[in-house]
Amino acid sequence: MNKIYITTAIPYVNGAPHVGHALDYCLADTYARHRRLNGDEVRLQAGVDEHGNKIYQKAVGMGLPVEQYVGENAKKFRDFVEKLDVSYTDFIRTTDDAHERRCQEIWRRLEQHIYKAKYEGWYCEGCERFITQKEYDENAGICPDHQKPYEKLAEENYYLRIADFKNKIRDAIESGEMTILPEFRKKEVLKLLEESPDVSVSRSRDQLSWGVPVPGDESQVMYVWIDALSNYITVLGYPDKDISAWWPAAAQFVGKDILRFHAIIWPAMLIGLGLPLPKAIVSHGFVLVDGQKMSKSIGNVVDPVEVLDKYGVDAFRYYFLRHIDTFNDSDFTWDKYESAYNNELANDLGNLVQRLATMASKNNISMEQPTEYAFDEEYVKMMDNYEFSRAFDYVWDKIQDINKKIDEEKPWMLAKNGETDKLQLCLQGLIGDLMKANYMLSPFIPGTADKIYEVFAGKIEPPKTPLFPKG
Ligand code: MSP
Repeated sequence: MNKIYITTAIPYVNGAPHVGHALDYCLADTYARHRRLNGDEVRLQAGVDEHGNKIYQKAVGMGLPVEQYVGENAKKFRDFVEKLDVSYTDFIRTTDDAHERRCQEIWRRLEQHIYKAKYEGWYCEGCERFITQKEYDENAGICPDHQKPYEKLAEENYYLRIADFKNKIRDAIESGEMTILPEFRKKEVLKLLEESPDVSVSRSRDQLSWGVPVPGDESQVMYVWIDALSNYITVLGYPDKDISAWWPAAAQFVGKDILRFHAIIWPAMLIGLGLPLPKAIVSHGFVLVDGQKMSKSIGNVVDPVEVLDKYGVDAFRYYFLRHIDTFNDSDFTWDKYESAYNNELANDLGNLVQRLATMASKNNISMEQPTEYAFDEEYVKMMDNYEFSRAFDYVWDKIQDINKKIDEEKPWMLAKNGETDKLQLCLQGLIGDLMKANYMLSPFIPGTADKIYEVFAGKIEPPKTPLFPKG
């Protein structure tokens, strides 16, 4: 049995969760469940990123003490993770005392790669990073992600000497020691790496008071990304504990917008600490709404709790894991969501379970169900390569095949003609196919997969209420 560590990006708590935040959780959880079925022991981290100016200013704007504001929002995120049926083992808040103390120790251990210097440049508060003049010109002075003008910032800060690590990072990416997925993002990262200047890793306390103090310098606070990235190891106990049973992570799931931090600053920190690099960084696309980026100003932000409450958690997971392409931007619209629910979940799967179970119970069919099945090789390959939406399509084809087979073999005719032996074989074959497909469904929609297993294991009884009642 292997020990496997999987991580999710920790969202800023400057608001409630939106549907985009669900992707990291759903993808990482699917992978975690896949690996557990494989016999691995999995640790899955989740958490929240609570420091930084954005959050501080939001709290001030709302007239709330910042501790109260982050506490309330952190709870919303934790509830969201629970509601999504994510099998996490650890939940970190970056305001946890242990995390802050460990971050300071990480800083001390990186000190030989850190220097102090004066810098003047363009800064985006939304992105929490400095912008190059080239980027500034390309975007005409306005951040495309946050629709806010860049600000001029002149400060004396600490810098992490990225130059110390560039060669090692490039080698690790090119040799596959640290896989970056998808492939087209890997190319972007390699280009960014070459252009990457040293990174400012602190802010003066006048600019930023809500953060982890730089050890030994009262006037400076750690840059939020240094504090945030550290969570992946502080949650394991680093540097107080030996983390070698879990680290390096098998896979770290992040959105495309934050891949640069994970593929450049994070590996630099790890190399500086003498720790191995994660085996894979998997970057997903964005959830769009009607083809547009979700934004408060457009007013198209979709509340995930509303989506979850309307059709349940597995409908949510189904849509976000199958119809949102794992690596590319994809659309959420209520129309598409409802059509997927009614035509696919309710018809293809829900009806199939109902029909088969009804016929089997009427004809007194029962069969021993194994608790483990052999996976199809093609499916395993896709799951191992993090191609979740493709793997989900593959499983859904199997469900459709069973529906077709029922129409072809017409078990109701066999029953009508009294062909009992043939009927028995036919239903047992169909149920066996369904149980095998169900096993492959279980990392994606675990609650439903459990229910389906229960229906057919032991004495077969059709579900009292449909698995997916029509909306
Ligand atoms: N706090 C940082 C991450 C620190 S990780 C050490 C951050 N937070 S975030 O709240 O802005 O984003 C959290 C995650 O949600 C990121 O992986 C991000 O890519 C993802 N998403 C935010 N909006 C999204 C969509 N509309 N669609 C898909 N994912 C999106 O960045």
